[in-house]
Amino acid sequence: MRLSFLGPPGAGKGTQAQRVSARWRIPHLSTGEMLRAAIRAQTPLGQEVQGFMRAGNLVPDALVIRMLRERLEQPDIRPGFLLDGFPRTVVQAEALETFAPLDRVLYFDIPEAELLDRLAGRLSCPVCGRVYNLRSNPPRSPGVCDDDGTPLLQRPDDRPEAVRVRLSVYHQETAPVLAYYRARDLVESVPATGSVEEVYQRILRALGGAPPGRSEEAL
Ligand code: AP5
Repeated sequence: MRLSFLGPPGAGKGTQAQRVSARWRIPHLSTGEMLRAAIRAQTPLGQEVQGFMRAGNLVPDALVIRMLRERLEQPDIRPGFLLDGFPRTVVQAEALETFAPLDRVLYFDIPEAELLDRLAGRLSCPVCGRVYNLRSNPPRSPGVCDDDGTPLLQRPDDRPEAVRVRLSVYHQETAPVLAYYRARDLVESVPATGSVEEVYQRILRALGGAPPGRSEEAL
């Protein structure tokens, strides 16, 4: 299974990718999370990309393609992978085609008003990366991570001015990626409104239930 979740910022791709990758036992590769980890560690890549990300712009194609290509060379990728946030431009889709072509793309279909609401309420743990939502998925104690007690933060690119840029970049650069994969008949659309569980059940149906070689009962 070489799968990618495609959709606008805040559609719930990361939330669902964690569950699907655990069920299918394939690595969840979020380019956004890989880049944020590089910023936290202040690696040369992190220092180079932080200005783009904070403003809500895409990181240059060459940097993100190289980062992902190196990750896909690791041995844990052999059973497949779930990409979250890649490809985001047609240049990235064309590059991926040369080293790890996809066999499924799930498109998260959601109205813009719902995205704004979700992004405005998102908080994340800067240490473990766990994502919360003030409205739909609050932490047990206000403002701190359930797992490690770290104070939760709003992502810098969830500020309203950066969200506006991200949505505009999405329409300009990432919507054509959907057309690219539709032309290859790889896209399944999943309505991404409703609860996390409802969306998850729709994804399971779109993917055809249990992973190959494993029964529903074993999951
Ligand atoms: P990235 O981290 O990929 O951000 P994104 O695509 O904008 O997606 P988000 O993480 O904002 O949203 P999501 O769809 O994962 O939603 P989530 O599950 O968190 O990229 C960030 C930046 O990195 C980019 O702007 C760019 O600069 C750079 N970058 C990354 N990849 C790149 C690439 N390939 N090329 C160039 N640059 C790249 O959910 C959102 C909120 O809603 C959460 O609070 C969650 O709890 C809540 N929620 C989720 N599902 C539901 C539900 N069903 N009901 C109610 N609330 C829900």
